[in-house]
Amino acid sequence: MRQCPDRSGHALRAVFDRRAAAASLARGHAGGEVAASGVWRFRELLLPGTGPTLAHPEGDTPIYRREAVSRFAGVADLGLKHEGQNPTGSFKDRGMTVAVTHAVRFGASAVACASTGNTSASMAAYAAHAGLPALVFVPAGKIAAGKLAQAVAYGARTLLVRGDFDACLRLCREASEKLGVTLLNSINPWRIEGQKTIVLEMLQQRGWQPPDWIAVPAGALGNTSAFGKALIEARELGLIDRVPRIAAIQAAGASPFARSFKTGFRKRYRVAAETVATAIRIGDPASHDRAVWSIRETRGVVEKVTDAEILAAKAVIDAAGIGCEPASAASVAGVRKLVRTGVIGAGESVVAVLTGHVLKDAEIVMKYHTAPGRGRNRPLEIDADLRAVARLVRRS
Ligand code: F0G
Repeated sequence: MRQCPDRSGHALRAVFDRRAAAASLARGHAGGEVAASGVWRFRELLLPGTGPTLAHPEGDTPIYRREAVSRFAGVADLGLKHEGQNPTGSFKDRGMTVAVTHAVRFGASAVACASTGNTSASMAAYAAHAGLPALVFVPAGKIAAGKLAQAVAYGARTLLVRGDFDACLRLCREASEKLGVTLLNSINPWRIEGQKTIVLEMLQQRGWQPPDWIAVPAGALGNTSAFGKALIEARELGLIDRVPRIAAIQAAGASPFARSFKTGFRKRYRVAAETVATAIRIGDPASHDRAVWSIRETRGVVEKVTDAEILAAKAVIDAAGIGCEPASAASVAGVRKLVRTGVIGAGESVVAVLTGHVLKDAEIVMKYHTAPGRGRNRPLEIDADLRAVARLVRRS
């Protein structure tokens, strides 16, 4: 894999832009997966050196703009970077391609992670690609069925732990130390390196013109950490001349970081987490310290939104034909709240990251739309009879 010897912002921009142009040609060609990857395009800034590189390929996700979502959020210039359009349906693939590549290069014999569902789905897929055994710890009864099905389908040994995500992570850390298995949670620095490319790719898509704000759902705080690192590095390299502010958004029932932010990060909290957004149902974020650095360095903010606000935002994103999983909608719900409280100006530019695909949590979609209330879209059961169809069409 060719590297770029000149690390000046100008030279790197030219190399990354050339690769972006070549990526679409590489898709579908044998051996083209690395060239087509929206992660490995930025390899000089991720994992130095060469060797076997695993790609699915990941990244290259779109930034959507939809009038209805902008109106809901209260900012005209709102982009939605849809990370749900990665190979396993979430942003986790970006960190996993780098972390599993690193694990393979260093001769790992097996990999493990604790997860609320997306990390495990992604790790299982990349481990299968690498031919490595995978061990997954998930909270029993607290992960969406689709995510669990992915880990099982891709062949990971899947353990349903009687406890929450925080208990899963403790157990997984102990087990990987004792058993000599490589830990692939976002405390693994290579995961963070890969996740930086959400921001790098977004900047590139905007012609290296940064938005005023980047909004991101926050759970274990891997992304919050990665985004700050990416932005500061991008400025130091001269890829951008101005650093956007990060808005990290937590679910109210799982918001220890938002609480800590209120104290100026003087205190760290651990809570018993509960939220409809199971992906971010995390009470003791593992990447707290690195995320504090990110928020400080980017003059960022941390906000929390209720489950009702998350589901209302999700319904608007879904109805715009884009769709996302509940945790992802926290970013848009957070932007709306920050505009209403005057933190984000209505005239500022914002990119909100949608972290997971709408199909990741079909249970929530059906629960929402079959409940009474305005804006619901309950499916109707009918006889296999044209008159029944005609009656319904006339009525609506
Ligand atoms: N959105 C989705 C869809 C997620 O799956 C996660 C984390 C987050 C947001 C939060 O990101 O942890 O970097 O702050 N999911 C992890 C998992 C915990 O196990 O899949 P974070």
